[in-house]
Amino acid sequence: MKLKGEVQLPGFLLALRFLALVLWSFPGARALNNGLAVTPTMGWLHWERFMCNVDCQEEPDSCISEKLFIQMAELMESDGWKDVGYEYLCIDDCWMAPKRDSEGRLQADPKRFPSGIRRLADYVHSKGLKLGIYADVGNKTCAGFPGSFGHYDIDAKTFADWGVDLLKFDGCYCDSVEHLEKGYKRMSLALNRTGRSIVYSCEWPLYMWPFRKPNYTEIRQYCNHWRNFEDVYDSWQSVKSILAWTSSNQKRIVDVAGPGGWNDPDMLVIGNFGLSWDQQVTQMALWAIMAAPLLMSNDLREISPQAKALLQDKDVIAINQDPLGKQGYRLRKEDNIEVWERPLSDLAWAVAMVNLQEIGGPRFHTISIASLGQGLACIPDCVIIQLLPEKRKLGFYQWTSDLKTKINPTGTVLLRLQRPSLH
Ligand code: GLA
Repeated sequence: MKLKGEVQLPGFLLALRFLALVLWSFPGARALNNGLAVTPTMGWLHWERFMCNVDCQEEPDSCISEKLFIQMAELMESDGWKDVGYEYLCIDDCWMAPKRDSEGRLQADPKRFPSGIRRLADYVHSKGLKLGIYADVGNKTCAGFPGSFGHYDIDAKTFADWGVDLLKFDGCYCDSVEHLEKGYKRMSLALNRTGRSIVYSCEWPLYMWPFRKPNYTEIRQYCNHWRNFEDVYDSWQSVKSILAWTSSNQKRIVDVAGPGGWNDPDMLVIGNFGLSWDQQVTQMALWAIMAAPLLMSNDLREISPQAKALLQDKDVIAINQDPLGKQGYRLRKEDNIEVWERPLSDLAWAVAMVNLQEIGGPRFHTISIASLGQGLACIPDCVIIQLLPEKRKLGFYQWTSDLKTKINPTGTVLLRLQRPSLH
């Protein structure tokens, strides 16, 4: 079928498109050279939902134990999570025994992880998944378990020996900014020396901000992703504050993200208790626009079909995982409606419109197509598909057209604009 988009482009527009493509394909700062996180990491991380529950006597189903991770691994394989890309099953704080072993190695709490981490990693690998673990650059983890300060080499080796595939490295209890910076770098090099492929997830900038502005170009050379802002909570207030921080710092952080290194706005809390349906849509849409690691923290044993469908939405995941690897940004905010956009491969664009007005009902918002993608999102025309809150083909649009959408309070409309020939 011959489609309208195959019409000849005027020469200067073609030149512009070419220039844009060249500029956007240019890699940002050099990334950590471990070949990992070419697209944002996807998986599951226990912290937000299960925190530091160590009471397996009283709460055997929700305490931090090997049983919890075995159950999650089974579900990640059987319930379609792995198939759509959620691959890393990650342990957060509170897995450790209170003391190192006689040889100075970290060890798992023997009551809660009786088989040990190596056996757990084998099991997780047998499901076709990867295992993540947690440690801390300072003297103690945030919850008070042994820190890695002074033990970077031995800890990296222990994790590699166990078959760990990702390390989340926290920044609590570090006695100086110098130790913090050196520690994050040393652990990166120590992981590298093990020869095992281990995704390195940092919180370096988050702990730097109170002292001085982080050097993101440098951080990208050592980490595969890095937390910038406070911990996510199961609340709209929290999701909103992460978005506000990100947009107000976008000049500093957006360009540094790219294949191998990503800004990490923290876990997806979709499928829990605190977000309404529209707010869950907003989190999913904006985490896709932000090229964020998609690490869910929820209970896969009891997730609603609606939340599951949202988290497993292949079109939205495709935006998050787009191979061009450019992070999106907030284009404008007008009258409590924010418009965000993200350049995608094949000259496509993702556009999200968020209604931040928390009084009243759904609001209509009209955008001029020419204002998107620096004028290049839809030249001379394009096909627009609405992906969220539900999938709907909106059809052909001209560069000069307007698009009217309806957005629920605290909700988001997520669109994909693409070349008609790719339709
Ligand atoms: C910090 C981190 C969280 C979590 C906890 C664990 O607050 O930012 O993501 O890892 O520590 O104690």
